Amino acid sequence: MFTFSFFSFLIPEFFLCVPVDTSSHSATCHNNKVAKEEILNYYWREYGGKIPADAITGGRDINGDNVYIGQAYVQNRGLFIGQIKPGSTEMFITNHGVTKVDKYIKILCGFPPESFVWLQTNATILHLTLLNKHSIIAGHEDGYGTMNIGRISYQGGTQVGKIKTFVVGNAYFHWPDVRGEDPGVKDYEVLVYEELKI
Ligand SMILES: *[C@@H]1O[C@H](CO)[C@@H](O)[C@H](O)[C@H]1NC(C)=O
Repeated sequence: MFTFSFFSFLIPEFFLCVPVDTSSHSATCHNNKVAKEEILNYYWREYGGKIPADAITGGRDINGDNVYIGQAYVQNRGLFIGQIKPGSTEMFITNHGVTKVDKYIKILCGFPPESFVWLQTNATILHLTLLNKHSIIAGHEDGYGTMNIGRISYQGGTQVGKIKTFVVGNAYFHWPDVRGEDPGVKDYEVLVYEELKI
């Protein structure tokens, strides 16, 4: 009896501890003994108009006010990325047009702020820019693939939006523009999470 319970504890642990994602890290275990450096300190909080203290800034709008990174689900479409404007409980996302979302919005939070880094890239080379980086996958289009968080500078302000990462070599950035359209932009920045070397 003792022998049985001893092995039933050990065996799963042995088999579950296999290296994965060898591109960026040496060895990772699929159990609760994940190496300390594997912990990624970002998460999504419910957003109802108030900006949490640990929200990640996406940039500043034309008035110099911070903007933030939002996420919302759209039925039968997917999970989308948008820009949160402090005080506003509405967010606009792009999906072959612009859709307004005003419920169940989440906001990207994490720490330390210095771990959130924007890298300059473009639609052709995005997949190369993200090699060996921890890109923050923040959504998906149903039936297509995952999205990353991007931003551009437009007429003196930041515009946060989605990057169609799943179209490798043609990974355009999209944002809801002033005309209510969703242009594809070739040059942009992508958000990655970098562990700080302590
Ligand atoms: C994308 O960036 C790379 C590296 O800077 C550059 O060589 C390439 O021409 C750019 N592609 C486009 C379409 O701008």
